[in-house]
Amino acid sequence: MTGPLLAWYDENKRDLPWRGVPDPYKVWVSEIMLQQTRVAAVLPYYRAWMEELPTVEALANVSDEKLMKLWQGLGYYSRARNLQKAALMIVETFGGRFPETYTNLLKLPGVGAYTAGAVASIAFGQPVPAVDGNVLRVAARVADIREDIMEPRIRNSVQALMESAVPADRPGEFNQALMDLGATVCLPNGAPECGRCPLAELCEANRLGIQMELPVRRKKAPRRVEEMTVYLLLREGKIALRRRGKRGLLAGLWEFPHEAGSLDEPAAAGPVEAWGLTPLEWKKKLTAKHIFTHVEWHMTGYLLTVRGEVPGLTWVDAAGLEALAVPSAFAKFREEARRVLEEADHA
Ligand code: ADE
Repeated sequence: MTGPLLAWYDENKRDLPWRGVPDPYKVWVSEIMLQQTRVAAVLPYYRAWMEELPTVEALANVSDEKLMKLWQGLGYYSRARNLQKAALMIVETFGGRFPETYTNLLKLPGVGAYTAGAVASIAFGQPVPAVDGNVLRVAARVADIREDIMEPRIRNSVQALMESAVPADRPGEFNQALMDLGATVCLPNGAPECGRCPLAELCEANRLGIQMELPVRRKKAPRRVEEMTVYLLLREGKIALRRRGKRGLLAGLWEFPHEAGSLDEPAAAGPVEAWGLTPLEWKKKLTAKHIFTHVEWHMTGYLLTVRGEVPGLTWVDAAGLEALAVPSAFAKFREEARRVLEEADHA
């Protein structure tokens, strides 16, 4: 499959900013950003990141505040924290030299078999595979694998298949060709474009006409739903934020104060008073939903003016809000807050 795949890649490869001159730092950061996130969504983040943090040293020294702001909206924030931990390790343990082997790359926080394989092959030309969801899908179709591709045993067998398939002369391009093929031709959700596929002739699923049925994935457990009430507390032209705890979902990021449960307006006053604030005018009700991997947040929000002082809340104006990392789960409320604060600035 190597010949047709690489020929196709030469003609069709996407022009991406981490391709071309293989800089391990750039390849690594792009690979971490691309986990769970599409190329188009990653591009603006990647560009802003490289402006601010062009080297491993810059990343090792950045503040958590700035790091989280650069990642705001990408999700899975531990990826960014692991990037920084790994940068510190490279500076302190590897004397500033990027680890060059698959085995040493695996020692970096946040780097598993996929990322180590991607960086080792793309940046250092090592003949190792990089098996991600795209590659699993292509492999399941080409080789007619009918078992659950999330099973470790099946993943390992695809890994072994790819180990024997990676060509020694162009391993990075081979791996990226499979990624591009998975992203642009061998599409998920039952819509592959086999007419344009360089592997169509040797693809078992194509021969049998069962592309739509592969890959097989076990059913995921249903997500837990959490109802919550979110507050945009407005006081003297500023809105209250608080910092999330150091552990768990969205650790250390900023959020609008909220309470469990979907509260109607009279009930929603309770928590505000319990915090020691006096509600004045209820201005607006908003609703929003956010889907994480294992949980959904169903949010009811209120914009209201308040009086009083509470420890643990940080009151921000428009510039203050812009400077802090508020995750996308709160995007609708963040947008509303920005509008309100900009109006307040101009009043
Ligand atoms: N997805 C993950 N890594 C990628 C890469 N290097 N090129 C294209 N798509 C990718």
